[in-house]
Amino acid sequence: MANRADWDAYADEYQSTHGEFLGDAGFLWGPEGVREDDLGALGDVTGQDVLEIGCGAGQCSRWVLGHGGRPVGIDVSMRQLQHGRRIDEQHDVRVPVLLASAAGLPFADDTFDVVFSAFGALQFVADAPALVADVARVLRPGGRFAFSITHPTRWMFPDDPGEEGLVASQSYWDRTPYVEVDDVTGQTRYVEHHRTLGDWVGALARNGFVLTDLHEPEWPSDHERTWGGWSRVRGVLTPGTAVFVSRVA
Ligand SMILES: C[S@@+](CC[C@H](N)C(=O)[O-])C[C@H]1O[C@@H](n2cnc3c(N)ncnc32)[C@H](O)[C@@H]1O
Repeated sequence: MANRADWDAYADEYQSTHGEFLGDAGFLWGPEGVREDDLGALGDVTGQDVLEIGCGAGQCSRWVLGHGGRPVGIDVSMRQLQHGRRIDEQHDVRVPVLLASAAGLPFADDTFDVVFSAFGALQFVADAPALVADVARVLRPGGRFAFSITHPTRWMFPDDPGEEGLVASQSYWDRTPYVEVDDVTGQTRYVEHHRTLGDWVGALARNGFVLTDLHEPEWPSDHERTWGGWSRVRGVLTPGTAVFVSRVA
């Protein structure tokens, strides 16, 4: 709930800052600029029922639509979804979306062939193993699950794109969430959760997934874009994004 208010407030700035880089029907896995056209993490989506968790303005789902899939997006932020509708109208397409949290997927069992999330909700939900179990529930036998998150090793460093972001200052194994509290109301404004690589692999394995790939995109030589804590300074030395690709066994 805290993140809903935060994303509603941030959505306009997010889309005006990053919208062009994302592309209206682009599928970006992370700030390094690696795209689904290059990774192929979802496989051929033609004729597939595809769920995007934390779809934002639906750029990735629009890519799925353009590649012959049947996408559905969920997002916790109404403002992000409104931006999606604006982009839909500009391109005369319609990505079906739901205002819903990933903490309890509002779908029946065996509904999708593919579930994915590109920096969507995985690191924002308190109970990630429960979400992974829920994804397994809504996937059909043999279905794919792919998601990108901040690379877990980044947790050790300050979220600073400069030199300060290169000095480890916190334990990799400290799972205490990052929490921002409003100075005036005292209410929680933003929460982000950390799990180690082992935590993610364990959550997938315990819920019947086979991990088929773990991509750690390198910083491209011609890429100069700074996005939050992601920058060339850090990107050439440490991985900033992890893309997990898995399949129901
Ligand atoms: C960094 S954006 C990523 C979206 C898209 N892939 C992009 O690159 O713009 C994260 C999105 O996840 C959504 N989100 C955060 N927590 C969520 C939750 N618990 N359930 C569903 N969506 C959530 C936010 O509202 C936001 O639109």
